[in-house]
Amino acid sequence: MEQYTAEFGVFGGSGFYSFLENVKEIKVETPYGPPSDVIAIGEYKGRSVAFLPRHGKLHQLPPHKIPYRANIWAFKKLGVKRIIAPTAVGSLQSEYKVGDFVVTDQFVDFTRGRECTFYEGPITTHISMAEPYCPELRGIAIEALEKLGVRFHRTGTVVVIQGPRFSTKAESLFFTRMGFHIINMTQYPEVVLARELEMCYVNIAVVTDYDVGIVSEGNVQPVTQEMVIKKFNENIGTLKEVVKYIIEHTPPERHCKCGEALKDARVGE
Ligand code: ADE
Repeated sequence: MEQYTAEFGVFGGSGFYSFLENVKEIKVETPYGPPSDVIAIGEYKGRSVAFLPRHGKLHQLPPHKIPYRANIWAFKKLGVKRIIAPTAVGSLQSEYKVGDFVVTDQFVDFTRGRECTFYEGPITTHISMAEPYCPELRGIAIEALEKLGVRFHRTGTVVVIQGPRFSTKAESLFFTRMGFHIINMTQYPEVVLARELEMCYVNIAVVTDYDVGIVSEGNVQPVTQEMVIKKFNENIGTLKEVVKYIIEHTPPERHCKCGEALKDARVGE
């Protein structure tokens, strides 16, 4: 059987990979069960890229049911070293406007009960999460957004909620007052699991809504799923350009420390 490999892994469905050449769909098995769906592998500018829709092709997996470990493991099995992860986010601060892009640099975890590590003993691992996102890929994403001339933020803290419901006004106000910038349901544990397998990970977020209204601003138009999908789709063209730019302009060798995440992090060996 042909051995498939990919250098980049992208969380995105068919709407994303129309620019790929020689696309093949493959099933990947993992010790954590099947990933969210089949993986599409193809080439862009001579670089190999794997695409996986994190919610499944039919969006059949809600955020708390996404097989995060299987998805990240599947990318690792294919040889992926760098993960590009577009997401939709709500805004919690008025300077983060609907339609803006954010190159997230920090997360705060408000999820519950998700499988969030590959190391369940006897090997115990305490990786550093001080800087969860790859600095090299973040730099290239920022460069891409500057070139495209769209409104974007170089940094942003995302609070990740369990979902699938959206927040109450009280929760949203709390997150705003805590100073978090954006809100989402899927960044955790995806970004952590990538680091545990020593892969680089960058999140490019599109602001699709103002959550339940930035309460302190008196804006009370609560988010709906329809709003999120509509705004995300409106911005998919730009997202695709950012993904293409990153694939084309990322040097083959890594210049970050993501590949050494497990050094000095393991106990019990
Ligand atoms: N994804 C997009 N908008 C969101 C919101 N307001 N809350 C949680 N996840 C989201």
